[in-house]
This record gives sequence, structure tokens and C-alpha cells, in this order.
Amino acid sequence: MVQSITIRRPDDMHLHLRDDAMLRTVLPFSARQFGRAIVMPNLKPPVTTVAAARAYRERILEALPAGSAFEPLMTCYLCDDTDPAEIRKGFEARVFTAVKLYPAGATTHSEYGVTGIDKVASVLDVMQELGMPLLIHGESTDPAIDVFDKETVFIERTLKPLLDRFPALRVVLEHITTEEAADLVDADTSGRLAATITPQHLLLNRNAMFTGGLRPHYYCLPVLKREQHRLALRRVATSGSPSFFLGTDSAPHERGAKEAACGCAGIFSAPTALEAYLTVFDEEHALDRFEAFASDNGRRFYGLPPNEGTVTLTRERNDAPRSVELGDGKSIETFMGGGELPWRLVDHSNA
Ligand code: DOR
Ligand code: ZN
Repeated sequence: MVQSITIRRPDDMHLHLRDDAMLRTVLPFSARQFGRAIVMPNLKPPVTTVAAARAYRERILEALPAGSAFEPLMTCYLCDDTDPAEIRKGFEARVFTAVKLYPAGATTHSEYGVTGIDKVASVLDVMQELGMPLLIHGESTDPAIDVFDKETVFIERTLKPLLDRFPALRVVLEHITTEEAADLVDADTSGRLAATITPQHLLLNRNAMFTGGLRPHYYCLPVLKREQHRLALRRVATSGSPSFFLGTDSAPHERGAKEAACGCAGIFSAPTALEAYLTVFDEEHALDRFEAFASDNGRRFYGLPPNEGTVTLTRERNDAPRSVELGDGKSIETFMGGGELPWRLVDHSNA
């Protein structure tokens, strides 16, 4: 049995870092594992301009532990009235790496999102010309659609027409949760369509939200799905296909905001992310494919060089805390903290 694995330093291609005290608390957990991260723009107010992204990037860099080489890659929050010239300017200035499309009302802080693809067609034309990736939260916002069908309905009604209308647009379908999404991305042979997969959607099915009672810390969007979908995600993630890569969607919310009558969506996986993914690859007898998923497929899609340095994980009880203190008596619950995982990140040298 393999006891230790060393891979090139990975990247997190979907991460929520928030701001202020929350940013300072959560950032070190990502920075110790990952070389780079695609940083989500759903702050309040959202990051919609080059100036706002530059300022946010500065705040992230200031919050980094001394000596960290972690590089935040910034995204622009797409609105109906986004100016294509702003997107071009941000991409050419190397401030914006990608644009994030939230259907208006689909999830946390998405109220300024897109109400229809027609509204943003001129932006998508420019992105297609630039080769700039569009990152999509793929859920229908039609209130008549069952919550567990929102991703598959989005694929049929919105994503497929979008892919046809903008045939050269590079797209990442974020945090996929269904067999339909996995099959769609797997079937693409052009290389212009990819997907991120979170640790929770690989490790859990929707039963986890209801085991012995209501479990708000397993609630995220898109919501966990039935077992058949989890198995499909595990199949494609560990298949060696370059179209699937690591994106944690680590999305911290203070405990009180989740353990509430109307609890927030989001799972804080940053402290255990790499160990959680490795557990899946180990269970699937695919340790030899872990490095591609974690460190190569994503950065290749984004046209980035390999990271310097490596990370090493060993087969021993994970030591991440069950919960992380925010100060003022507040805390954030950690995904599978408290020794639930059988792997531990031990060496994270930059050299
Ligand atoms: O669960 C989620 N939390 N899904 C999202 O799309 C947003 C995220 C957040 O920002 O909290
Ligand atoms: Zn997200």
C-alpha cells in the first residue's frame, strides 16, 4: 500500500476567499497547499471593474503569510451591463484571468448576475476573440424547476445554446454535480470546454445533508446529488481526461450564518481540500492520476506554466481542526476536519 505521495504543487481553480477578517483567516489554508487559485468575485459589492480587482488582489497579497508565493488569479463578476471594453482592458493588463457568470439569483451574492445570455452577448464576443475563459455557475433560476434538476435544466436550456452560439468561447462549467454535466464535458473533443469538481461532490451524496437530522454544513450550491451522480463524477475525475480539474469551491460562512433558519450555501474545505481529493483517488485506485487532476489539467486549460515545488501527503490521520476561529466568538466549520480523513499534507516546500 502506498504510504506517501509527492506531486507538483497544485492549483485551486475555484476558490472563495472573501475579504477582511474572513480573508485573513481562511487564506493561509489555501496558500500552504496551492500555488495559485482562481478567486471568485462574489464579494459585496461584487468585483466588476479592473480597479476593484486590482485592489482586491492587493488585499489578498497583503493577507498572505510571510514568504508565501501564492498567486491569486482574479475574475470579473459578469453583469447585464458589463462593458466589453472593461473586460478587454482587464485581460490585456493581466488583471482578469477569467469572467464569472452567475445566473441572477442562482446562489450566494448572485443578485447582480446575468438575467439572459442576450444581455451579455457583446462581452462574450470579445472574450471569444481574446481566448478568455468564461466560468459558469450552471444552474437554472426558474423557480418551477426542482432544486435537484437545476443543473441539468441549465445545460439544456442555456449552456448548449451558448456553446453553439459562441463556438470558440472557452468555458469552464464550475463545480459540476451531475452525470449529465460529466458526460457533456467528457464528450467535448475541442478542448474548449472543461469542468471543475469539488471534494464534497466526490465524497458525498445528498443523504449526507439529512443523516440523523438536518446538516447545514453539507449544504452548498449546486446542492449534493444522488449516488449515481457522485459515481459519475468520480469516474471522470479519476479517468485521466484533461477536461476535469481541481476546483474546491471552498466557500466559508460563519457558523451562525449556516446554522440558521435560512442557512447560507457553502462548504469550507480549504483546510482539508487536498487530502479529501487524495482520499477519492486512493479509493478509486487512481493515485497515478492525482497529479494530472490537481496540478496539470487546470493550469494547462488556463495556459499557465507548471508551479515550482511540490507537496507531499502521507497516509496518516488528518490533523485539520473541526472548526476555525474567526475571533469575537465566531468560527467556521471545516469540511471533514477533526481527523475524518486518512491523508495528511506533511511537506509543502516551495523549492
Ligand atoms: O455553495 C456555494 N457557496 N455555492 C456558490 O455558488 C457560492 C458559494 C458562496 O459564495 O458561498
Ligand atoms: Zn463558488
